[in-house]
Amino acid sequence: MINEIRASVEAEFAKVNALIVDQLHSDVDMVENVGQYIVDAGGKRLRPLLALLAAASVGEVTEKHIKFAAIIEFIHTATLLHDDVVDISTLRRGRPTANSEFGNAPSVLVGDFLYTRAFQLMVQLDDMRVLKLMADVTNLIAEGEVMQLVRAGDPDTTREQYFDVITRKTAILFAAACEGAVMLSGENDDTLKRMHDIGLNLGIAFQLIDDVLDYEGDPETTGKNVGDDLNEGKPTLPLIHAMSHCTPDEAALIADALRTKSADRLSEIIALADSSGGIRETRNAAVEHCERVTSALAELSSSPAKLSLEKLAEFSIRRES
Ligand code: IPE
Ligand code: IPE
Ligand code: MG
Ligand code: MG
Repeated sequence: MINEIRASVEAEFAKVNALIVDQLHSDVDMVENVGQYIVDAGGKRLRPLLALLAAASVGEVTEKHIKFAAIIEFIHTATLLHDDVVDISTLRRGRPTANSEFGNAPSVLVGDFLYTRAFQLMVQLDDMRVLKLMADVTNLIAEGEVMQLVRAGDPDTTREQYFDVITRKTAILFAAACEGAVMLSGENDDTLKRMHDIGLNLGIAFQLIDDVLDYEGDPETTGKNVGDDLNEGKPTLPLIHAMSHCTPDEAALIADALRTKSADRLSEIIALADSSGGIRETRNAAVEHCERVTSALAELSSSPAKLSLEKLAEFSIRRES
């Protein structure tokens, strides 16, 4: 499905990938080794694809868009390096995480390298509005990750608090991928707002499904372990919903697992997330956000890129990887 979505910006996408590899170079061996390790593992490159499609949906895709798309992927990759340290995750993109392969310190520091390389590239774009957008966005992402850390182990986390976390840690970058791309195209404020909303809702849907896959995904397909969120005591929507829709004893079992950050009773908790409707509710919420994407897209004039954006929205809720 992803290949089909890429088709309308295939050549530009290849240029983004080449730029990513080119910009990883460093005179410091460890930077290059760790950077290449995570980048070579691939990943879906959904966010740069989104930036290219947003640009293509309003006009021509330029060299600036290609650079911008690579910047977005660098920021994403930096957050993954940091996130896996914080989450103590051992599997990413089908391989041992960089932290399990090289250690926590190299992961954090190379994450910093990728962040700062992204800002070097941004300066080259010579666009103060884009620079401001990305400075604000990266700051919000950092806040989102800290908010999540604070909420970890707290079973009383509300649905609103959960949505606040996922909006910041994930959806804001999707929104920036769309908004920044059309900003570089010189679009007006209405289009910027529409693109922002498209990315934001797509990102929320994407993270909701990620949180479902953390309980019922296949590690062979997702390239990540099941149960990571429970191990970190993350109160995600499948469990927030489950706790208010099962018996008090069952709710106490889930709350206790979150408090103690333990996946020891993972299979029972997966069964509860399922039987209480927590998984279904999370998928429904993703569908709802996807529908908001589709209706905002309907305002755009027809183009192959618009069709691809519609497919990307569908992919974000149907994906298994
Ligand atoms: C993982 O994102 C982090 C989340 C926001 C859920 P992706 O699923 O896009 O990761 P890669 O880049 O394809 O590995
Ligand atoms: C997404 O959250 C984190 C980032 C935005 C970096 P997760 O912790 O759910 O992401 P995965 O599941 O590790 O990819
Ligand atoms: Mg994680
Ligand atoms: Mg996850």
